[in-house]
Amino acid sequence: MKKKVLSALLSVAMVATLLVGCGSSTEEAAAPAATEEAASTEEAAPAETEAAAEEEAAPAADGELITVGFAQVGHESDWRAACTQNYQDIFSAENGYELSFVDADNDNAAQIEAVRGFIQQELDYIIIAPIETAGWDTVLQEAQDAGIPVLIVDRSVDADPSLYEAHIGCDMVAEGEMAANWLAEYLNGEEAKILVIEGTVGASATLGRTEGFNNIAADHSEWEILDSQSGDFTQSGGQEVMESYIKSYSDFNVVVCQNDNEAYGAMDAMDAAGITYGVDGDVTIISFDATHDGLQYTLDGKISCNVECNPLQAVFADQVIKTLESGGTPDAETVVTDEAFVAPGITSALATTMTQEVLDGRAY
Ligand code: AHR
Repeated sequence: MKKKVLSALLSVAMVATLLVGCGSSTEEAAAPAATEEAASTEEAAPAETEAAAEEEAAPAADGELITVGFAQVGHESDWRAACTQNYQDIFSAENGYELSFVDADNDNAAQIEAVRGFIQQELDYIIIAPIETAGWDTVLQEAQDAGIPVLIVDRSVDADPSLYEAHIGCDMVAEGEMAANWLAEYLNGEEAKILVIEGTVGASATLGRTEGFNNIAADHSEWEILDSQSGDFTQSGGQEVMESYIKSYSDFNVVVCQNDNEAYGAMDAMDAAGITYGVDGDVTIISFDATHDGLQYTLDGKISCNVECNPLQAVFADQVIKTLESGGTPDAETVVTDEAFVAPGITSALATTMTQEVLDGRAY
């Protein structure tokens, strides 16, 4: 393990966003961390509890902590808070790690500079949850030249895969297809006039969910996608976009929000305009993430279908680092699996019907 050398060259901007070992906040409440979730890989399907992972994790043989820099997207959503908490839980000193955490506040340039700071500090590993897919080749090459292995987590990058060790994340295209397949089952041939509130522009979560939904929509001539605009994965963004849609469109019956926080904002906008939604309303809402609060709204019948995006991914990053530490070759791709949930009263062959028991078992 390399000796950690703290660099005096961190930029002022980076110092401002450097939150070593601190939690993050969202517009809503921060979610608690972590339970067992399955994932699939090309070669194997690791499926273990976080507790088991914690038992396995141990300081490096020489007694030194493994230094890891984590360049996180920001704190835009409840999902992100759960993801951050999960990394801070798993990458703890107790588990043999010293974690340097940077909240990039949804600023792509700041995130790239954070990675450069980790390279200057000569950390042992760098983990990046990339805001956007584009623009990573140069800094990934710099990390490789410095001999620092990089893990890409959550969203993906559009870069040469030889520049990083592994990607761990959900299949965003499959999530979009899951949402649209459920809508097709639910509407059963009825017309749909659809408004989409997308996530952050250029993020793979946005690109993938949009592509997946559109793949299925292409087979439904009875569907019309009226508009598709970015709400930046935030509650305020979801509300603003929905308010603007309400001014522009008088006739719509489906709203697709690409995360739960956007759905909360969209519901606020529809409440203010007197538009009814949910299983007993005029508008069907589809959301993504299936966080605790999102599933509460699903159980309450306000969100009709909520497609999961599992934020508890740190255990797989820990496995990749352990494999590298022991001289092995980790799986290049770990796909964290998701499922969909529907409101009570909806019968679906594609999704789990929400119950209080399902909600009580939700850890984020
Ligand atoms: O990349 C995952 C997405 O990013 C989640 O859906 C969203 O809530 C977050 O901001």
